[in-house]
Amino acid sequence: MTATLELASDSAESTQALAAAVATRCVPGDVLLLSGDLGAGKTTFAQGFGRALGIDEPVTSPTFTLVRQYEVAAGPGGIRVLLHADVYRLEHLAEVADLGLGQLVEDAGVALVEWGEAAEPVLGAGALRVRLKADPDDDDRRTVAVSAEGTAWVGRWAELEVVLAPWTTSGRAGS
Ligand SMILES: Nc1ncnc2c1ncn2[C@@H]1O[C@H](COP(=O)(O)OP(=O)(O)O)[C@@H](O)[C@H]1O
Ligand SMILES: [Mg+2]
Repeated sequence: MTATLELASDSAESTQALAAAVATRCVPGDVLLLSGDLGAGKTTFAQGFGRALGIDEPVTSPTFTLVRQYEVAAGPGGIRVLLHADVYRLEHLAEVADLGLGQLVEDAGVALVEWGEAAEPVLGAGALRVRLKADPDDDDRRTVAVSAEGTAWVGRWAELEVVLAPWTTSGRAGS
């Protein structure tokens, strides 16, 4: 399956709220690939996502630490850990792979990976892709394309459509 939802956000708070909606549909083992230019809102998305998991400390950009790990007390679907990685340089990709992100995620974690395009060959199978794009005419607007390939989201896609309806501008289900 390939399915995509096209969303519109008109503020940082709106992007955090839609990220929180996505978080409610996540289960342990999920990987979300966040892509977009610098300033597109990847870390902003991660902040809304983390707050929805009940993480109190601010989720900040992991730029200088590569991967940050947050304990989750009572996350949806039994999620115990949030991993937040930033693959902003290609050589980090190998490091992230070495860290065994996949294994950590399998042990009741969810991973958010910024600059997801680069990470795709390593982490991509079954990941939820979130592509953020700025609007040249409005500093506060972003388009957010959420897509899934493979089987990981098949059983949850209809639920995701429902919770993201407030931001949806169009949706399509592919093959
Ligand atoms: N609709 C929006 N969605 C996300 N961020 C927005 C939006 N409008 C304005 N912003 C601002 O854009 C900046 C995004 O920065 P950040 O999330 O760190 O981007 P990235 O991690 O992609 O480099 C923040 O200062 C945020 O407040
Ligand atoms: Mg960032």
